[in-house]
Amino acid sequence: MQNDIIKMCLDWGCIMCGIVAFLSSNKVNTSNLLESLSRLEYRGYDSCGIAYINDDNSIYIRKSVGYVQDLKNDIANNGSRDTLSHVGIGHTRWATNGPVTIENAHPHTSGNICLVHNGIIENYEEIKNNLVEAGMCFYGNTDTEVIAKLIDHNKKIGMSFFNAFKACISKLQGSYSLVVIDSDTPNQMLCYKNVAPLVIGISDDSRSIYAASDILAFPQGIKRCIYAEDQDIIQVVSDGNTVSANFFDRNMKNIERNISQDIESAGEIHKDGFEDYMLKEIHEESGIVKHVYDKIKHKSLAHHRKICFVACGTSYYAAVLSSYYLEKYASVQARCEIASEFRYRSPIMERDCLYVFISQSGETLDTLYALKMVKAHGYNTFALVNNSHSAIAREADSYSNVMAGPEICVASTKAFVAQFASLMALFMPEKLDTNNISKNMDAVLQNNNDIKTLADKIISYKNIVFIGKCYHYAIAMEGALKMKELSYINAQAYCSGEMKHGPIATVDKDLCAIIFAPKDEFFDKTITTAEEITARKGNVVIITNKSNKEIIEQYSNIKSQSSHISYISDGDEMSYPFYEAIYVHLLAYNVAKKMGKNVDKPRNLAKSVTVE
Ligand code: AGP
Repeated sequence: MQNDIIKMCLDWGCIMCGIVAFLSSNKVNTSNLLESLSRLEYRGYDSCGIAYINDDNSIYIRKSVGYVQDLKNDIANNGSRDTLSHVGIGHTRWATNGPVTIENAHPHTSGNICLVHNGIIENYEEIKNNLVEAGMCFYGNTDTEVIAKLIDHNKKIGMSFFNAFKACISKLQGSYSLVVIDSDTPNQMLCYKNVAPLVIGISDDSRSIYAASDILAFPQGIKRCIYAEDQDIIQVVSDGNTVSANFFDRNMKNIERNISQDIESAGEIHKDGFEDYMLKEIHEESGIVKHVYDKIKHKSLAHHRKICFVACGTSYYAAVLSSYYLEKYASVQARCEIASEFRYRSPIMERDCLYVFISQSGETLDTLYALKMVKAHGYNTFALVNNSHSAIAREADSYSNVMAGPEICVASTKAFVAQFASLMALFMPEKLDTNNISKNMDAVLQNNNDIKTLADKIISYKNIVFIGKCYHYAIAMEGALKMKELSYINAQAYCSGEMKHGPIATVDKDLCAIIFAPKDEFFDKTITTAEEITARKGNVVIITNKSNKEIIEQYSNIKSQSSHISYISDGDEMSYPFYEAIYVHLLAYNVAKKMGKNVDKPRNLAKSVTVE
């Protein structure tokens, strides 16, 4: 059975990108599509485009390589953004199939067909070859264009829009969601969902229906939605007054889907005066810790004696960090698994274990597939997410929301501290003094000038290592990841005891080691590692607590050779990770800013990693 599940996961392939579409009996300002795309940019931002049907039934289409802002500027410079239409679609891309070019950006067209697509079509080459033989010409090299051509071809051989769409779906293999419009049939919008997310939003007056990868794309005021299930065909039809969405399975049997009420679409998200979302989100960290801990601590999971955390990236580091405390203070056996590895191994699963899937987005494909695998074997699953409507929240037996609020910056910051605080609340409800922790996290923000000074020194290094022991090591991993993501400097993390087992060979005058060494039970061991680095001419940055100043200054080698000593507030092992987390977030931010990087949208990344 397990092999079947793994095969199923492999077959699902990779999916990314964001789509949005509307069909309305009112005329809608098409600039709304651009605003929706801005909110979907977390799904990819290498190119984007919109299309809508004009009053004369022609299709307006505009695409751009780069950010949604580039597309907005392009449209503004070439005519009005404020055009009205009854039907429109938009897309923001993270390239999987075909390089980043205008031709490969969505929407894709053929004849009167225009569509946006999120996912991959595995058999597109074969279909393309048949279409080429049938005389169709291609302008780009994506699998998506093949879908447009196939529907158009089906129409040209006499099928209605709906039948052409259905016939196309029956030929496509892969994991994808799709929204198609046809200027010959402007009162219809056809959608399909398989693995890649698709949600249908319904306006209160039932005069407009939206389709999108995420409810974030819906305009403010959309309170009702339907989460499409895999293999749903959705025919959205306007009779000129109301717009309805009919759901069918692949055998064209009508199906009923539940309507979720009172959803909260994001509407406008602002930077609140901050220069970037990242800086805003770092500033929210201290408030979130208190809020989430107080709210969640009543939902205890403390009766579970065995936990297996499964997550990726920063969410995985939150698991590693938490496991230290669960074992030490709650006597909970806590194992941590990287989702993309876990699902390809043959993990030994246990009945008395709670499998906890941590994901900010709730959409990470590796984590979702690992969850599906554990569930398919009948084990107990729990999700910790920042989006209650996400696939992971819906798939798990139960879930909790970390309540960090929308995290827009691709690099996760506030969600990390919210995940850690949530796990502490779920397993150790009375352990954190959140008032004090919040206050001292703010003190790190107030010390930003010191962090900026350090950032100035760091930008010249090509080799940075973050070093810590036990819980500090989890923060070291988080710090190294943030430094890599934002500055593109190749930073690594090591537990202090491991340096001598190999990594110390890389130490020379060009290495900068950032070492977490507040005065706790690990201090002496960690300082020994720092000494070993200075002895080999490496540069060290020590992050320690204020009361430790006199002690640290006695280490003459460190003091004389150190590039920097930074001080955080005095604390204990329950509070230091919070101070260190906000510190490394701010450090990576400052380094990247000084290097002139786009901190909110680092190169090659996407916020929601829905690829394998
Ligand atoms: C964090 O800064 C990263 N962008 C990334 O590692 C992220 O944490 C990872 O992709 C997991 O995402 P999730 O929490 O949404 O599942």
